[in-house]
Amino acid sequence: MSNKAVQHTCVFGMGWGDEGKGKLVDLLYPAFHAVVRFNGGANAGHTVCVGKEKFALHLLPTGVLHESAVGVIGPGVVVDPIGLLEEIDGLAARGINVSPKLKISQRAHLVMPYHKAEDNLSEQNATGATRIGTTARGIGPCYADKMRRTTAIRFIDLLNDENLEARVRELSQKRAAALKAIYGDDGGLDIESIVRDVLLAKKRLSSNICDTTSFLHETINAGQAILFEGANGILLDIDHGTYPFVTSSSTGPHGIGPGAGVPPACVTRYIAVTKAYSTRVGSGPFVTELKDDIGDRIRKAGNEFGTTTGRPRRCGWFDAVSSRYARQITGATDIALMHLDTLSGFDEVGVCVAYRHEGKTLTTMPTDAATLEQCEPVIEYRPGWHENLRTVRRYEDLPQTTRDYVEHIESLVGAPVSILGVGPDRSQTLIRGPLKDSIDVPEPASL
Ligand code: IMP
Repeated sequence: MSNKAVQHTCVFGMGWGDEGKGKLVDLLYPAFHAVVRFNGGANAGHTVCVGKEKFALHLLPTGVLHESAVGVIGPGVVVDPIGLLEEIDGLAARGINVSPKLKISQRAHLVMPYHKAEDNLSEQNATGATRIGTTARGIGPCYADKMRRTTAIRFIDLLNDENLEARVRELSQKRAAALKAIYGDDGGLDIESIVRDVLLAKKRLSSNICDTTSFLHETINAGQAILFEGANGILLDIDHGTYPFVTSSSTGPHGIGPGAGVPPACVTRYIAVTKAYSTRVGSGPFVTELKDDIGDRIRKAGNEFGTTTGRPRRCGWFDAVSSRYARQITGATDIALMHLDTLSGFDEVGVCVAYRHEGKTLTTMPTDAATLEQCEPVIEYRPGWHENLRTVRRYEDLPQTTRDYVEHIESLVGAPVSILGVGPDRSQTLIRGPLKDSIDVPEPASL
């Protein structure tokens, strides 16, 4: 039993998603009783390696891969029930039975096939400037129904609504007709198969649906620690991201209140995850994007292809302006700087320290996507490193140039880099500073 103080913790992305949050949550989970998703849906993609096995999770909280942690899907998550069942069955086929320790909030909303159809049709019919480049997982249309209220379906409805079947049929028919009227195409929706799938979800998931809010409060009262797993990233946040090229939820610690039903003040450790460079998938401004062979080199070395959609990710130098912004609005207490090993082999590495717009130097993020699109990065180059970092297990053993790079990022962003990723495996993670003494994580396996 650990004698370390219980600290509820939030891990979230500091950029446009894909920062390596899954790997980090997977590393930290032994210190926590419950791992909670509080936002987004199957747009997220977390790749986790357990032993020699690689798992891609979209809806399941990462901690459920392991015996000890309870996985919670909170009220703020939008869940494609069939996608969730496929994930559960996929893991079962590999010998991992997550069902007994999975809790789905009664308040969470169902992503329906007509949400996905609408997401697809709206993207296909958008012109270049208005195409968001979504993951086509129906996230935006489902959150829109949630806000509209009268057309939404929640997990509690699977338990309590005596007219569920008729309601699903009616909502699906109406939506198919609306899509046909708007786009001249109903997206190939098969109403009876939608009804069957909802009834299947009711049958198979009913025992997992519960009041997760009460469960989390009981966990807190019992003195057990909770890990909140943010999906997507701050720059994709519906309020604070590069709107409209964002997702439809609150992607950082500010999403914990509405998305999990826990007062954010309970959470005292906020770990912002970023990479040693920047990436983005989908459309939208990306000031430090490298459309040259350096970008290609980073993409290849970092295997920067989407977990959810397989799309190549856009790559660029580390952006200290957007990262500082993300730190400010989230109150990040620690930074996890992942993929440092990917930058090995460059003679020099760049960091964006400011933006240039219409002859002015900006050190804060402009609000408007169009302005951001016109910004030029002010890049400061520093000496790179050629050593292979993957065998390094202590911060002090990193090359001096790598440490200088890390410490420069700390001073620009304004929070300590407490975690460093030096390779894809769980053991290739270095923890330094006060965090090391305040959290129980297994010692990295020796090589
Ligand atoms: P949506 O969340 O599918 O509506 O997509 C909106 C935007 O967010 C698109 O640019 C997506 O590529 C992006 N996005 C959403 N979730 C993730 C993620 O987990 N990683 C990277 N990009 C994401």
